[in-house]
Amino acid sequence: MEEKQIVIKELWKIFGKDPKRVLKNDNLGLTKTELKEKTGCVVGLKNINLEINKGEFYILMGLSGSGKSTLLRNIIRLVKPTSGDIVINNKNITKMTNDEILEFRKDTFGMVFQHYGLLPHLTVIDNVAFGLKIKGLSKEERYSKALEVIKTVGLSGWEYNYPGNLSGGMQQRVGIARALANDPDILLMDEPFSGLDPLIKREMQDELVELQDRLKKTIIFVTHDLHEALKLGDRIAILKDGEIVQIGKPEEIVTNPEDSYVKEFVKDASPAKVLTAGCVMEQPDVLIYSWEGPRTALTMLRSSNRKIAFVVNKHKEFLGVVNESALLKIIDNEPSATNIPKEIIKPRAFVHLDTLLEDMFHIMAKEPLPIAVIDENNKFKGKITTDILFENIIPLGGHNE
Ligand SMILES: Nc1ncnc2c1ncn2[C@@H]1O[C@H](COP(=O)(O)OP(=O)(O)O)[C@@H](O)[C@H]1O
Ligand SMILES: [Mg+2]
Repeated sequence: MEEKQIVIKELWKIFGKDPKRVLKNDNLGLTKTELKEKTGCVVGLKNINLEINKGEFYILMGLSGSGKSTLLRNIIRLVKPTSGDIVINNKNITKMTNDEILEFRKDTFGMVFQHYGLLPHLTVIDNVAFGLKIKGLSKEERYSKALEVIKTVGLSGWEYNYPGNLSGGMQQRVGIARALANDPDILLMDEPFSGLDPLIKREMQDELVELQDRLKKTIIFVTHDLHEALKLGDRIAILKDGEIVQIGKPEEIVTNPEDSYVKEFVKDASPAKVLTAGCVMEQPDVLIYSWEGPRTALTMLRSSNRKIAFVVNKHKEFLGVVNESALLKIIDNEPSATNIPKEIIKPRAFVHLDTLLEDMFHIMAKEPLPIAVIDENNKFKGKITTDILFENIIPLGGHNE
């Protein structure tokens, strides 16, 4: 079972005067606008329930004002919940005293902000080491740790520059290094790439995926960019007016948006960036087991009217394909053959179950015939044709009513 790192139960945050008075039964059903009119208070978060697993890349997505930052700030307790529970590493942080929370925060969280939040008068290394000073580490320890994380984010050589001399992308690398410096369990990132140019942004996303793979941190990442959410997230929670309207894996969100707000979000999503070979593949008309022999193979191939057939061994591992002329030749030359010999099985392009359609175009462009889909153990799972590929890349919004 997955280990839960963060569990949030019935979390409310109301901004305004005497917010607890607002949380009475007859108010709980009101919309954000109605509540504002009636009480003068603003709903920041409304009955949030969610669970985040250890090592998960969790996305909070929603329009501006939907409560994403407020939720992050509650998790790190920069903002105090009006009611509800936030349990992190089995500790209920809503019950902690201020001293306890300060201690807990230092050890548990690293935070990355949209506008970097670097100190301009400090060099890169001093910015990164800053939090460690607060923690009471010696200068030597601080610098050695800082050098290590600076290397992790690809900034070696820039240690003694000032933030003002760095590009936006590099400044955000410093921001990430600083967040990683105290080796936190949980990384909170509030629209960290929103201010960057598209190319740099993509590069930073790729590197973050790779970093997450290596460091296995739990990441909560705020964005309003759907493609960023789909690319990075193991799961995505969509917020609207302080409420969660849907939680799901990227594929679930785009293929099954639960209401019109989510539909509007995913309308322009490109399926090629979301759908995988495993979710669109088909079963082949002919699948030949190598021990069935060339005659059986020939009969099956002819009756299916196909040009090629996929061949697997007794473990269902994918071996390649055969065609009619190769089978005829072997039947002629070796009439006694009971197995399909390796020499006539041609290698064929394959993709993995989790290969994105987007990454298949260049393969399919060279392969007019179907290609194989295999799992991590090399076992044959299905086939993809160019037809399947093209049928599945119509923008998802096109399927909505
Ligand atoms: N300190 C605050 N005082 C009053 N209202 C706030 C405060 N912080 C956030 N809000 C309100 O809470 C709602 C959610 O804001 P926020 O979490 O910043 O949204 P997002 O990050 O999704 O853009 C907004 O309506 C915002 O105006
Ligand atoms: Mg925000």
